[in-house]
Amino acid sequence: MSKQKTVLILGANSDVAKQCILQYTAKGYTVFAASRDVISLENFITKNHLENSVHVIFFDAADFSSHQKFYEELPAKPHIVIYAAGFLRQNVDARRNFNHAFEMMKVNYAGAVSILNIIAEDKSNANLERIIGLSSLSGVRGRKSNYIYGSTKAAFTTYLAGLRQDLSSRNIIVNVLVSGYIRTKINEGLQLNESLIMEPEYVAKHIVNAGNSFSIVPNWKWKVIYWLLKLSPEFLVAKLP
Ligand SMILES: NC(=O)c1ccc[n+]([C@@H]2O[C@H](COP(=O)([O-])OP(=O)(O)OC[C@H]3O[C@@H](n4cnc5c(N)ncnc54)[C@H](OP(=O)(O)O)[C@@H]3O)[C@@H](O)[C@H]2O)c1
Repeated sequence: MSKQKTVLILGANSDVAKQCILQYTAKGYTVFAASRDVISLENFITKNHLENSVHVIFFDAADFSSHQKFYEELPAKPHIVIYAAGFLRQNVDARRNFNHAFEMMKVNYAGAVSILNIIAEDKSNANLERIIGLSSLSGVRGRKSNYIYGSTKAAFTTYLAGLRQDLSSRNIIVNVLVSGYIRTKINEGLQLNESLIMEPEYVAKHIVNAGNSFSIVPNWKWKVIYWLLKLSPEFLVAKLP
């Protein structure tokens, strides 16, 4: 393996993650693209002529017992790690069918903690410089329309905040992407306010160019919504959908 910097993307078949692959490879990084759908990802890599700079690896976020072996078998230990895997079911479905709620907990939170703990505990990886988790504005406050998905993202955001404190002594930066609506397949079939939807390429730019601040909130409209949500008293948040 060359001395090039490496990025490990977990859940790399995500529409946002694919844009990250394009942007990181354009900057000269080698990407380990880890996904449960390796065929779809391989087609994407071939279509974009990225065979020399992207390695596709099978990864299932919800198969916790496979994570240690997955990490040990990586061709090189990463400089940057992105956790992009995510699962969304409507609140009403998740309330009535615990399997849907549990799948969100596994992919959005438990799977992230499982693999990121393994990565963070490996002190022999002197390469590691940054971990970025893709969380959501849904996790900022509990709201009646999406509190099950939202609670998994809130837990993930809190985990990343603590991880950031923990890893700062090793000069490893941890960021959280707190994103509003993005035009990706996770939202297929949902009626979203068109004026608030961001393109995956735009969001990926914020990930790839992450700085030192913990929270990354792309787009000024979503920044306003983020702060309104954070600062509003509970009785006002309770009036929201
Ligand atoms: N789109 C939005 O509006 C929005 C807003 C805030 C936050 N986010 C978060 O952004 C991240 C990326 O999502 P996206 O918008 O790019 O949607 P996406 O294209 O649907 O990406 C989600 C990815 O998660 C993967 N995934 C689900 N379960 C998995 C598992 N068990 N193991 C490995 N991968 C698994 C999916 O794999 P398959 O391709 O195999 O299905 C999919 O590629 C997610 O964490 C999402 O929650 C999205």
